[in-house]
Amino acid sequence: MAQPLDRNLALELVRATEAAALAAARQMGRGNKEAVDQTAVDAMRLVLQTVDMDGIVVIGEGEKDEAPMLYIGERIGNGNQPRVDVAVDPIDGTTLTANGLQGAISVVALAERDTLFFSHVPYMDKIVVGPEARGKVDITAPVADNLYAVARAYERDIPDLTVVILNRPRHEKLIQDVRAAGARIRLITDGDVAAGLMAMMDEHTGIDVLMGIGGSPEGVITACAVRCLRGDMQARIWPRDDRDREMAEREGVDVNKVLMIDDLCASENVFVSATGVTDGELVRGVRYSGDSAMTQSLVMRSASGTLRWIEAKHDLSRLRNLAGSRYGEGH
Ligand code: FBP
Repeated sequence: MAQPLDRNLALELVRATEAAALAAARQMGRGNKEAVDQTAVDAMRLVLQTVDMDGIVVIGEGEKDEAPMLYIGERIGNGNQPRVDVAVDPIDGTTLTANGLQGAISVVALAERDTLFFSHVPYMDKIVVGPEARGKVDITAPVADNLYAVARAYERDIPDLTVVILNRPRHEKLIQDVRAAGARIRLITDGDVAAGLMAMMDEHTGIDVLMGIGGSPEGVITACAVRCLRGDMQARIWPRDDRDREMAEREGVDVNKVLMIDDLCASENVFVSATGVTDGELVRGVRYSGDSAMTQSLVMRSASGTLRWIEAKHDLSRLRNLAGSRYGEGH
């Protein structure tokens, strides 16, 4: 019989995001995106393998032939119950980390088996809002209508709203529309998972809505956080060209369909852990000092709705004895 997800697995997952952050943050500012990603993947996998779960990576580093670790379809965990889908983004913000810029996190989400959306089409259009605006937005509606609906739901005026948008040429029209509606804009260069989380949190994050086109995997991870934070999200696959359209057709994914939260993450039992890699407004980045390092993480569980900020002090020399050089070694 399947075991219910009555353990707070997020408390085990945090070790995986901490490990990835500790390893990757050593690469901060070195300009090497591949090294950032690889060190994070290695460290995260090492820890995830030990978690008491029968996991399948559904959002991962790519297909098996191109991504030897944490590839889509890889079994992860020690094989014991519960059976779960695992969505990993060892670093959301590899470029940010490589350039020493703010806002990179390491993130993992878990949900019941066969409940997470997946498409090979790399981009989706998203709108993410906080709990008060649940059920009030419609991704097919004009931008101004959505901002008006959100402002009403938050009991504010549109000029008091801040919309976070990835700074990309594809968002020129969106940016114009938000400006015309009168809302404030925060343009970010990368990292829309952290931005989406901030849009849903009521801790005065300074971000109220996330809009625009970002990664599909990041969208599914954000959807897991929606379950925990009781915000709302809608999305639509965004094909760049005919190849993407053909891919969607082969997968049976309707590019016109509005993906609601139930389509993106059908599980009521979800766990998310995010650890700061570089400093950010959501969580602080890794701080090294001598042979220790500090991490800050945010972990959440949908069943209880508990959000925990976990500060950890890591003894790097003892970790090295446990796990070799993969935890935060200099090179
Ligand atoms: P990294 O690949 O540098 O980690 O960037 C992550 C990210 O900024 C996501 O947060 C976002 O969803 C996606 O890339 C946007 O894709 P693109 O940079 O191709 O517009």
